[in-house]
Amino acid sequence: MSDSNSSFISNQVSNPPPGQVSGSTDASQRQQSYNNANRDEAILSIRSLYKSYYDASILQDINLDINSGDFLVLVGPSGCGKSTLLSCIGGLTDVTSGEIYCKGKDISQLDPAKRDIAMVFQSYALFPNMTVAQNIGFGLEVRKVPAAKRTKKIQQVAEILHLEPLLDRTPAQLSGGQRQRVAMGRALVRDPTLFLFDEPLSNLDAKLRLTMRTEIKHLHQRLGGTMVYVTHDQVEAMTLASKIVVLNQGVIQQFGTPDEVYKRPANTFVAEFMGSPAMNLMQAKVLVEAGDLKIQIQREDEPPIIFSEPAATDALRAFANRSVIVGLRPESISDLPARDPQRSHSVDCRIDYLEGIGSDVYATLKIAGGDVVSRLHGDSSVRAGDRQQLHFDLSNISYFDPSSQLRI
Ligand SMILES: Nc1ncnc2c1ncn2[C@@H]1O[C@H](COP(=O)(O)OP(=O)(O)O)[C@@H](O)[C@H]1O
Ligand SMILES: [Mg+2]
Repeated sequence: MSDSNSSFISNQVSNPPPGQVSGSTDASQRQQSYNNANRDEAILSIRSLYKSYYDASILQDINLDINSGDFLVLVGPSGCGKSTLLSCIGGLTDVTSGEIYCKGKDISQLDPAKRDIAMVFQSYALFPNMTVAQNIGFGLEVRKVPAAKRTKKIQQVAEILHLEPLLDRTPAQLSGGQRQRVAMGRALVRDPTLFLFDEPLSNLDAKLRLTMRTEIKHLHQRLGGTMVYVTHDQVEAMTLASKIVVLNQGVIQQFGTPDEVYKRPANTFVAEFMGSPAMNLMQAKVLVEAGDLKIQIQREDEPPIIFSEPAATDALRAFANRSVIVGLRPESISDLPARDPQRSHSVDCRIDYLEGIGSDVYATLKIAGGDVVSRLHGDSSVRAGDRQQLHFDLSNISYFDPSSQLRI
């Protein structure tokens, strides 16, 4: 059992320690945060982890530090290696090379049962002929925890998860959400150093997913604990995470807070993967006029969009007279002016088609090379084919290098 003060049950009001290094979107800083040798402080540190099956490389050079109290969400498309990485941490899969440190100790060769890590899977894997209480207490029984202590722990966990009235039922007598809670209870009761969740909500219907998501978030806020949570759902990632790792084809694309990943995506993959509808990516040219930088976006049969970029970095200046990719989220192209007038640029646009979702209307317009989605107020009366003055909010604009696809 863990004596960690970040454990779920023993520390009822734990908050993540202040001043922790948050991930950065800048590649050099990111490398620094991986290599800052704080693996003795981190709950979990992964160093140069590789995993292959035969000649297929599944995970490549994974480096990560997870601090006490973190809710780390591992997100990426199906097949990118999320479950494999989780399984390597839990010890169910051998790593090909690299190390995994838990509280400073290399556990990469350690038996899974000795890792002090609890896993919750998508298939809850409950024992069908055991009661809820027996299912929750099973891990303690295996670890020879005395009966009286076991009962007390089961009671505590049942109370936290609102399972008290169900303790004598078998899994067949429970709803999907209740089974999910029992699976969580089985992890919670062990009071481990680290919790691993592999898509625990994906078997639930949409409404229950939302409820359980909120419950998991509240639980973490109330009880602390350190989590690694896998999902392919970027909305789930944004809402649950204190830190996000975006994985694609076995390679970490970005490690940062939800805000960093959303506002400052490290590359065009992250820009398009996080956020729905995706970030608009537009081919543009960087012009220099009397020392000032201007960005020009071509349109079909319409004058180009040209705006000045007063906040240009040296990195962007290096692209003078060359092409870049401009990234703007749908909410940054709106029928309302931007909050900062200095960073608002109005464009007369022809609306190609519309999609209403009640609260908002997504209006699509054409630029050279593709569609751009803008988000209008839900009360907008604009119709397809209309002309509309749209305001580009440039305060969160992103630029990417067209050859490397990396953030400039
Ligand atoms: N035991 C295995 N043998 C061979 N290939 C595997 C095995 N497990 C997973 N893979 C492959 O590894 C890749 C990543 O799988 P996985 O980690 O399950 O992805 P995710 O959880 O992100 O959907 C996939 O291409 C999958 O086919
Ligand atoms: Mg998976």
